[in-house]
Amino acid sequence: MSKTYYVTTPIYYVNDVPHIGHAYTTLACDVISRYKRARGYNVEFLTGTDEHGQKVEAAAKANGETPLELADRVVKRFQALWTKLNISNTDFIRTTQERHKYTVQEQFKSIEAKGDIYLGEYEDWYCTPCETFWTETQLLDGNCPDCGRATTKLKEESYFFRMSKYSDQLLQHIKDNPDFIQPKSRRNEILSFISEGLRDLSISRTTFAWGIPVPGNEKHVIYVWFDALHNYISGLGYPEDKDGKFANYWPATHIIGKDILRFHAVYWPTFLMAAGLPLPEKVFAHGWWTVEGQKMSKSLRNVVEPNMLIDKYSVDAIRYFLLREVPFGLDGDFSHSALVNRINSDLANDLGNLVSRSTAMVGKYFDGILPTPIAADSTDQALIDLFATNITKVDKLLDELAFNKTLNTIWELISAGNKYIDETAPWTLAKDPEQRERLGSVMYNLLESIRIIALLVAPFMPETGSKILQILQQDGDNLSLDEQDQWGGLKPGIKIEKATPLFPRIETE
Ligand code: ME8
Repeated sequence: MSKTYYVTTPIYYVNDVPHIGHAYTTLACDVISRYKRARGYNVEFLTGTDEHGQKVEAAAKANGETPLELADRVVKRFQALWTKLNISNTDFIRTTQERHKYTVQEQFKSIEAKGDIYLGEYEDWYCTPCETFWTETQLLDGNCPDCGRATTKLKEESYFFRMSKYSDQLLQHIKDNPDFIQPKSRRNEILSFISEGLRDLSISRTTFAWGIPVPGNEKHVIYVWFDALHNYISGLGYPEDKDGKFANYWPATHIIGKDILRFHAVYWPTFLMAAGLPLPEKVFAHGWWTVEGQKMSKSLRNVVEPNMLIDKYSVDAIRYFLLREVPFGLDGDFSHSALVNRINSDLANDLGNLVSRSTAMVGKYFDGILPTPIAADSTDQALIDLFATNITKVDKLLDELAFNKTLNTIWELISAGNKYIDETAPWTLAKDPEQRERLGSVMYNLLESIRIIALLVAPFMPETGSKILQILQQDGDNLSLDEQDQWGGLKPGIKIEKATPLFPRIETE
């Protein structure tokens, strides 16, 4: 098989409805998937839902429905949102699916057979909302150190995973692979956490029933995180691997929020070590969004609903905003004014104007027929060189998941295009018949710039990329950047369609 790339989102809990936080992670995975595909990779992009556990059981009970009824209902909302957001996932996993349960039970048995799962007794402080046990010393004023809510003391028979055994091996892996956990600040957090030594992890519960039973001891259900994390390989068909997906795609790049880094950078790798499987390629923890300066929460009634935003501002504007506004890895604030500013300045003004001015001029001066360029002068060459440089930069930045820097790099090209119009002043050239060929060259260079810009923005804004490419008579559906990103791809003589405004300006009061 040719080059492959495997990227995953967290699987989202079904006791919450999708909001911009979920959309953000899923969108990041979509952009990198689309880009890698355009670069010739076979991409597997997995998302899905986390449907077991006490929280779901309780939420369903409160609604007077079964956990599965609740899950079926909420899953549809996630799936509908992903369709609306143009998410190109190749699979959708639900932890209630047989294929998933099978993998989890097989993994449990396999790790148990190796001696790394044993039956013991558990007594510690449990935070029900976080489904996490804490030691006495970890509590903050007796409350959960993560969410601040009350904890209760629980004692129960439990299966344990020998996580302690893997402290040194994991520490070494993180040290040997500087890019394994990103960004760096998060990696340091994890390093210091592991340096304190890992405790064995309780991986079964007897206090509720909504979960995957422990093989051979049905009194116990498997702890939600042992269950959920395995989605990343159950989604590939492990262990049978009938379709060869595991062999072709594993290991994955996991994109997650910073809230769940420890599960992905400590628990998950040690489960994999115990099972004798390769560790993930990369775990990237992005930051959290607040809304108009406040934590997003149901009780504050400030949860930002992506459907509403998409209806109001267009899907591409939202896709652009979320990845442009905040460096990936840092926290950010969502505000309507920031969104409107970005739409008006970056999309309507910079990008929209470049496309509409350039195509309108080809219409006006050449009846919409793309002219043939003559030899490049120094202004042209500077533009062409900048494109070559920035295309290389984009490739490197996207590989690092630096979405916001990537967009800045693309926007340098858009500004250069607008500046090129001002410098070459086509309206002056048009008055002089002797400058006819020069004017033709300027038009060609502008439209060629737009073509490459469209290719580069397409992973972020698929509809916009495709609209621009259509104006230029290019196939916007099957991108192949290795063939298309060279300067000079447009054929002189083609008919350029008139562009309708890509992003209408939003009037602000
Ligand atoms: O944790 N800002 O599911 P979950 C940015 N089921 N991202 C946010 C966000 C915010 N304010 N709020 C949520 C779970 N997210 C587990 C995962 S994986 C094996 C199991 C995003 O529904 C972010 O990606 O609580 C975060 O990690 C995820 O939603 C948590 O989703």
